[in-house]
Amino acid sequence: MTFDEARAAFPVLERLAYLNAGSMGPLSRGTAEAMRTRLYDDLERGRGGGAYIEEMLRLRADVRAALAALIGVEPQQLALTSSTTDGCNIVLAGLGLGPEDEIVTTDAEHFGLAGPLHTSGARVRVARLGDGDPVGAILGEVSARTRLLALSHVAWTSGNSLSPLELKRETGLPVLVDGAQSVGAIEVDAAPFDFYTVSGQKWLCGPDATGALYVADPDRLHVARPTYFSQSSFEPGGAFTPTEGAARFDSGWIAVPSLAGLEVALRQAPDWRFERVLAASERCRALLAEHFDVVTAPGQSGLVSFRADTPAALVARAAERGVVIREIPGTGLVRVSCGYWTSDGDLERLLDALV
Ligand SMILES: Cc1ncc(COP(=O)(O)O)c(C=O)c1O
Repeated sequence: MTFDEARAAFPVLERLAYLNAGSMGPLSRGTAEAMRTRLYDDLERGRGGGAYIEEMLRLRADVRAALAALIGVEPQQLALTSSTTDGCNIVLAGLGLGPEDEIVTTDAEHFGLAGPLHTSGARVRVARLGDGDPVGAILGEVSARTRLLALSHVAWTSGNSLSPLELKRETGLPVLVDGAQSVGAIEVDAAPFDFYTVSGQKWLCGPDATGALYVADPDRLHVARPTYFSQSSFEPGGAFTPTEGAARFDSGWIAVPSLAGLEVALRQAPDWRFERVLAASERCRALLAEHFDVVTAPGQSGLVSFRADTPAALVARAAERGVVIREIPGTGLVRVSCGYWTSDGDLERLLDALV
């Protein structure tokens, strides 16, 4: 697949310099058509019967296998969820931590991780990252009571990597990685970690409310939020035998049109995507750095963030010129997301809109 072919799959790019995959990726024509076809099948044939259930289960299995392959793990280690937030909640509810236990996190986390941490029952120690080395700051919060490190692979604010692999190697502690800004943007090997979340709607360009959770050892995490998919059999009163593998953590029914759309989105992404994301974000950094204080280091992911005096006004001005970017509330930062589909023309439009 050439760059032009890959780009042509996304109709929004014909109109807009769409630089917002860190929030929601562009939808491809193929993804939307698969969803529409499935929705109309449901409309005409109904949503029941053996063939319907079989097709739903096939789609779940296909999507599970494709997502597992993408992050280098076994399908039996992957739960289907509705989001990264959902994945974080499943892990933190299942760990059964108490006030004697500590979790170390950072002050750069999205509420999708921070909220579940706060309700986990454990004491949360927050590493202040500032502009320095994230690894040192995080290690400084680790104590004999630390039961979990919980952090993003790529910070949604600065776009910088928080080096989760180095932290895993240094500490040997269980690590929950928020993969919302990494999976689909950069090459990910989730296998060294204990838990790793996936958002389907961002860099994977999947439908809304899709995602996944890698659980290295499903037998060691309690099923705290059972759904129908969690059990292979159950008794009156609810005692149940868990489903084999991480499917026991599946967070419930996923709309069948969404599964069909996600299946296509995962299949469509070109194999050169990761090099292209890094090249596009490097070009974006270089262009922005001529005019702004860029806080993203080279070679991180698809996000590029810079400081602005009036972020909201700048984002609004860009929107008027057909350029979609966003501000990060409370930080003074504006964030640009560069995907494998981002062209030099998109970046020129960005600069024209901002400067
Ligand atoms: C780092 C990070 N974590 C979590 C989330 C929430 O993702 P989801 O909507 O998939 O729960 C986001 C969304 O922007 C994010 O950037």
